[in-house]
Amino acid sequence: MAIPPPLHYPPFNITRSSHVVLTVRDLAASIAFYTRVIGLVVTEQDDDTAWLRGIEEIAHHSLVLRATTEAPACERVGLRVQTEEELDKAAAHFAACGLPSRFVEVPYQGRTLHAADPMGTPLELCARMPAVDRRLLQTDHHPGGAALRFDHKQIHMVDVPAACAFYTSLGFRTSDYIVGRPHEALVGAFMHRKDIPWDLVFLAGPGPRLHHFAYVTPSMIDMFRACDAAGLHKYGSSVERGPGRHGLGHVQYVYFRDPDGHRVELVLEAPHHMTDLEQEPVRWDAARRANTMDWGYPPPRCWFDDATIFTGVTPAAYTPPADRVALEDYLAVRAAPREGG
Ligand SMILES: [Fe+2]
Repeated sequence: MAIPPPLHYPPFNITRSSHVVLTVRDLAASIAFYTRVIGLVVTEQDDDTAWLRGIEEIAHHSLVLRATTEAPACERVGLRVQTEEELDKAAAHFAACGLPSRFVEVPYQGRTLHAADPMGTPLELCARMPAVDRRLLQTDHHPGGAALRFDHKQIHMVDVPAACAFYTSLGFRTSDYIVGRPHEALVGAFMHRKDIPWDLVFLAGPGPRLHHFAYVTPSMIDMFRACDAAGLHKYGSSVERGPGRHGLGHVQYVYFRDPDGHRVELVLEAPHHMTDLEQEPVRWDAARRANTMDWGYPPPRCWFDDATIFTGVTPAAYTPPADRVALEDYLAVRAAPREGG
């Protein structure tokens, strides 16, 4: 399995993964969850939309919640570009690739380009948002996980090699990748534009669907405070997986499901940077438990199977590998009577 070589001079300059736009059935309930448990700040709110950000962020929003009476979905995944001029280059590049794109008016954002990748993932590119105040020093207003800033998104894709190739052609570098058995298929790719190992993560699954998005939390104490806040505010069952430590990427994590089932992760700071070009992509074997460290429990089946649909996008089917080990399978083996016991 060969990872495509990085493209150091891409057709336009994406700087980072920046935001998501979700639809929710009960806006007040979702705001309560994201402020009390995750620790986000509401920048702006009207009757049917809320714009939220982490306490470190000066950009107007990194999470947009829009009320819906339909099935909850993800409308767009956001990418920042360096300047608004880059958006013209982006539009020209998408047109040259035969991909749809159009400029749109979006509240609290500068020029904004809507586009879709070849797999159908709806994208939203912009360079500017209104600047607001950092809340870092207002420590008496840091509930739950005190989320600092938007970190990354993970997307289920049927064709991970195609996703990896397309985003490489936009200048993303691969920090880590996962191969499955028996044919060395690429089933996971961690890709980045900013100087840590992930902005976009692609994992094999029915897709495209948004598996999760993640915010950085300051410490393990804040991570546990988020879990405690979930319990305190009757969201205890929303803690889906963790706290734990990923083997791949080494970072500590916990996953929650919001009131609509959208998955949000809190992670600590990335353990290393990805600035120097000598760093080659690191290969991981999907069959190795060490991908999630050699302690603790594997993810529950819902973590593997559930994800948020994109508005208007029908995910392609995917058959999970037969050797996948979920928490339920792991516990069934442990519960089985032991020979001679
Ligand atoms: Fe993640």
